[in-house]
Amino acid sequence: MDLLGNPNYDDHQEIALRQDPATGLTAVVAVHRYWAGLPSLGGCRLRDYSSGADAFDDVLKLSRAMSYKSVMAGLSYGGAKAVILGSPEPANRQALFRAMGAWVDSFQGRFRTGVDVGITPDDVAIMATQTPYMVGTADLNPAEVTAHSVFQAILTTAKDACQLTELAGVRVCVQGLGKVGMTLAALLSAAGARLIVSDIDRSAVAKAQAQFGARFVAPERAHAVEAEIFSPCALGGVINTQTIDELKVEVVAGAANNQLIDTAMDQALRERGILYAPDYVANCGGLLAVAYQLNKADHQWLWQKVASIESTLHEIYSLSRRQQIPTGVAADTIARRRMADLEHRSSQAA
Ligand code: NAI
Repeated sequence: MDLLGNPNYDDHQEIALRQDPATGLTAVVAVHRYWAGLPSLGGCRLRDYSSGADAFDDVLKLSRAMSYKSVMAGLSYGGAKAVILGSPEPANRQALFRAMGAWVDSFQGRFRTGVDVGITPDDVAIMATQTPYMVGTADLNPAEVTAHSVFQAILTTAKDACQLTELAGVRVCVQGLGKVGMTLAALLSAAGARLIVSDIDRSAVAKAQAQFGARFVAPERAHAVEAEIFSPCALGGVINTQTIDELKVEVVAGAANNQLIDTAMDQALRERGILYAPDYVANCGGLLAVAYQLNKADHQWLWQKVASIESTLHEIYSLSRRQQIPTGVAADTIARRRMADLEHRSSQAA
């Protein structure tokens, strides 16, 4: 396995592997960047990876993406990530997460982590018995802030693509009515949007139908709904070679990470005249909630950051038009510029 040759290596500043024979813990922490003397942030996930190479691939990709998300949200926290390799239902859950917590503690606060795929708030609570460096344990619900950030992205992108001033009467298809999707549906309903919803969990669908008068679409057809906006809030990879030609919307803007199966889809959306709000810009609310906790900020700070997604998206869409490039490429270009600025300032301060 050529770690340094991995396309997501991108000069990661720290990569650590932990093996704990007592508990069977095998975990990797990757820190893409440390900036401005601040801790680096990223969730901790538990996954049954098919190989060690797969796990390294995932952790590098995710930590790098956190740096991009951070700068585009107007923050200076470097990106990081932790992955635990193993069964989603470990027999010794308590001991495993205590060991992980102790390892997180050994980073002495320069890396901080919290809940991610495969890990519950209870697991975070176990880790937090070993270290004060767990994040996302405050009263504020990160998923709720994410729903607000996605709502802002939908509003801004719809205004841009469909020349709308408001969402009243606009058809929005929300795929996934989980922690983010259900709150987003409530916000959209309050704004007068006409909701079409999809989830494999029929009780969530029934709730959205009862509360918001939403129309149901079968999960496998959600992407193909005729509407102005498609909002993927369930899984990654929903825009792919099978689905792209079936889209009948003007805007794609949602919470799911890695909505595009690959970068070719970015160009494919552009060619079809569909405006795509880059996922890591739209779903930055969760990270903003963590920053709010770390900065001991007030609500005004938080909601201003959420509102500033509008100007960030305008910057992306205008670069995309000027340079005739897909919006994902435009976002990456701006993120890299912001990172270079931060690195320059960090090196001058050192
Ligand atoms: P969640 O696990 O609470 O909700 C996901 C929902 O999608 C569930 O209701 C599930 O039944 C549904 N679902 C699964 N497969 C589906 C399918 N094929 N079709 C339709 N629905 C399906 O997750 P959460 O927290 O709401 O996050 C949603 C997405 O947003 C995830 O991709 C997550 O990685 C991403 N995200 C979440 C953030 C947060 O703050 N929770 C922050 C940034 C990104």
